[in-house]
Amino acid sequence: KQNAVISALGGYTPDTILDNKMLEKMVDTSDEWITSRTGIKERRILSDSTLATSDMAAFAIKNLLDNSGVAPEEIECLILATSTPDHILTPTASLVCEKAGLKNAWGFDFNAACSGFLFALSTGAAFIESRRHKKVLVVGADQMSAIVNYEDRNTCVLFGDGAGAVLLEPANEGEGVIDSIFKTDGSGTQFLSVPAGGSLYPASEETIAGKKHFVHQDGKTVFKNAINGMSSTSSAIMERNNLDADAVDWIIPHQANLRIIQAVSDRLKFPIEKVKINIQKYGNTTAATIPLCLWDFKDDFKPGENIVLTAFGAGFTWGSTYLKW
Ligand code: ACO
Repeated sequence: KQNAVISALGGYTPDTILDNKMLEKMVDTSDEWITSRTGIKERRILSDSTLATSDMAAFAIKNLLDNSGVAPEEIECLILATSTPDHILTPTASLVCEKAGLKNAWGFDFNAACSGFLFALSTGAAFIESRRHKKVLVVGADQMSAIVNYEDRNTCVLFGDGAGAVLLEPANEGEGVIDSIFKTDGSGTQFLSVPAGGSLYPASEETIAGKKHFVHQDGKTVFKNAINGMSSTSSAIMERNNLDADAVDWIIPHQANLRIIQAVSDRLKFPIEKVKINIQKYGNTTAATIPLCLWDFKDDFKPGENIVLTAFGAGFTWGSTYLKW
């Protein structure tokens, strides 16, 4: 059997910082509330209105290609995980291939909200395992500022913009992406969505007046389900691969809320020091949180280390992936 290994990393976060003090001037909130309830201190915002998700994805890919010396023409396939496509039609992956110069690649968009990167990583790995492709880019990119209502304190403090990219290449059996457990539960849709702008409620004066094009969520329900979801698939994947907490070197969770991350770590009886956290800098960048974490902390990972990635998002969607670095 041939496996897929992450052979290169890239990332991009916009320069514009929106910190908690700035949010205090926009909505009825406080740095103290945001920090203690979420762990977030600041987030990055794509403030140039001529740019969008495709540009952040292309910047992350360019960073990866510069870091690795791989030429854009060598890329065979691009999987773009995003919930904030530039347009409903056409696919954003086509724009990214164009902007990043991936002349020989085909690509497609992948929407599984905050779990999108993990679902896409596993799909990209399958193209390598089947020997269909040798170089697959998997990117998580989201411009959450485009769908967040900056008058709604329940949501606007949580999200930020960014993109992270990984390159998958062939590896031996037992290396790289080893196993995944994924779940979806459509009954969760009512608790977290952008209700309008799709085929069910196309844009109308009514949907705009009702602010239905922004993220709506029942934070408490999402919070509980996120803890249950990420801890149950993580413990299941560790059990299936005969890994106890000592054998796992790092857990890289989706960065939605520091308290969710702490609760998952407690449930798994896994030391928080071995959990990678950068939520304080970027907030929740949806599909980008896990690849941005891999990119931020890449110098800490050593070959052969066992890493569990885990995510939970709208849908509901959730799951865990086990990989050997
Ligand atoms: N500043 C001050 N007060 C606030 C703010 C704010 N920014 N936001 C909410 N509050 C208020 C609420 O209105 C509420 O007031 P009330 O009691 O008078 O009604 C009070 O704070 C407490 O609200 P809770 O909902 O109990 O706060 P909680 O501790 O649950 O934290 C939070 C809220 C941070 C949203 C939390 O529930 C959470 O993180 N949920 C998960 C969110 C998430 O991860 N979403 C993304 C999923 S990933 C994806 O796919 C996009």
